[in-house]
Amino acid sequence: MEKRWSSKFGFIMASAGSAVGLGNLWKFPYLAASNGGGAFVLIYIIFAFLIGVPVLLAELAIGRNGRKNAVESCKMISPKWGFAGLMGVICSALVFSFYGVVGGWTLKWLFSSFSSDIFSESFFSVYSAKSFEPIIWQAIFLLICAYIVIKGISDGIEKYSEISVILLIIFLAGLMIYVFTLDNISESIKEFIFPDKNTFKLSKTTLSAMGQMFFSLSLGMGTLITYGSYLSKDTNLISSTFAIVILDTLIAVMAGLVIIPASINLNTGSLNDNPGMIFQTLPQIFSKMKGTKILCLFMFLLILLAAVTSAISLLEVISSFLSDKLKLGKTSSVMITLLICFILGIFASLSFGILSEVKMLGMNIFEFITFLADNIFLPLGGVSICILAGKKWGRENLSNELSLGTGKILSCKMLTFILNVLAPAVIIIITAVNLYEFFS
Ligand code: TRP
Repeated sequence: MEKRWSSKFGFIMASAGSAVGLGNLWKFPYLAASNGGGAFVLIYIIFAFLIGVPVLLAELAIGRNGRKNAVESCKMISPKWGFAGLMGVICSALVFSFYGVVGGWTLKWLFSSFSSDIFSESFFSVYSAKSFEPIIWQAIFLLICAYIVIKGISDGIEKYSEISVILLIIFLAGLMIYVFTLDNISESIKEFIFPDKNTFKLSKTTLSAMGQMFFSLSLGMGTLITYGSYLSKDTNLISSTFAIVILDTLIAVMAGLVIIPASINLNTGSLNDNPGMIFQTLPQIFSKMKGTKILCLFMFLLILLAAVTSAISLLEVISSFLSDKLKLGKTSSVMITLLICFILGIFASLSFGILSEVKMLGMNIFEFITFLADNIFLPLGGVSICILAGKKWGRENLSNELSLGTGKILSCKMLTFILNVLAPAVIIIITAVNLYEFFS
């Protein structure tokens, strides 16, 4: 059976589903609130279109041209450049490992929405420090992902993502309307929409907007190369890319409109970037509203939907690479990936409890895995994908690939400039600043 998307709509939903994750639902609102409110949102949107769109286009074009997994597709452009895709596959494996842990928490919270446990402030720290129970939920989350991926591209990933992204938008719109009916809400909405002088600092706001943009659009990790490889030659990549970026940004802004006013309005104190924070603060936010339990249930259902659509894209990247490399069938390659990432994830999970004293460069295992992914493999993958598309492949080839399905001949001058100069410069600056802050 040939692996293909059954429609352009399905492909857009799968890619948007991959991009929409905790980054949109949690990190974006939190970053906006602490970096100048509306100013952050505006700078974010500019970067998403100026740099996000070109890099996304490059990944999709590399994938559709190669029609193979991320590594092989990069090799098709230049035989020595397989490493560009390999960085992405490694990064995906690291992210998938800790996504399993977070996905497990989400399932637990979803099933606990009707008990009062999750509303107590210490529940998260007590629960995450347990050895056994989180691992069971982690395994269940991973098996759900495996089930979807094994069903295939059009019957599994595409169908699930379509339903999930649509539900996500409906739930989020519902929550938004509910929050808007709370008293005194207009003041707090202003904090999110209008620039806030107190928390705005041009350099810091710009840097965090750029970093968040790469993370939120899932760039540099081979996901879009892999998803692009299942596209047919008559799909318009330009309009698809805009649709993906618009959906991802829309969902982030909607989440901001729910989380920020709700937390300000209900005086739940400051938001925080800690990975477990969403599990601690969200129930607190909702516990002060009417209809708490049902709201919490919906919110964690939303998070679960978003986590699964992202996790399946990661699983697909790794398993399609393994299945080509080791000449394995779908089921075996998915199960091998699952096993490796489950084991790594167990260590990440235990680092909140019995392994909390195991430190690498001062970080626990969970933090170290996210550090390796975000600050080492992601930038390496991102920069090499840009250079591979812009320099090695070159403007003419890129233009030929991107013009397909548009009925026009695109010049791609601006695009190659962004890929060769602007995007790598931005990635290098963000990483350098992150590493500097980290070690100083
Ligand atoms: N974009 C996801 C989010 O916003 C996180 C992420 C980064 C991701 N890279 C990815 C998800 C690759 C899937 C695949 O939360």
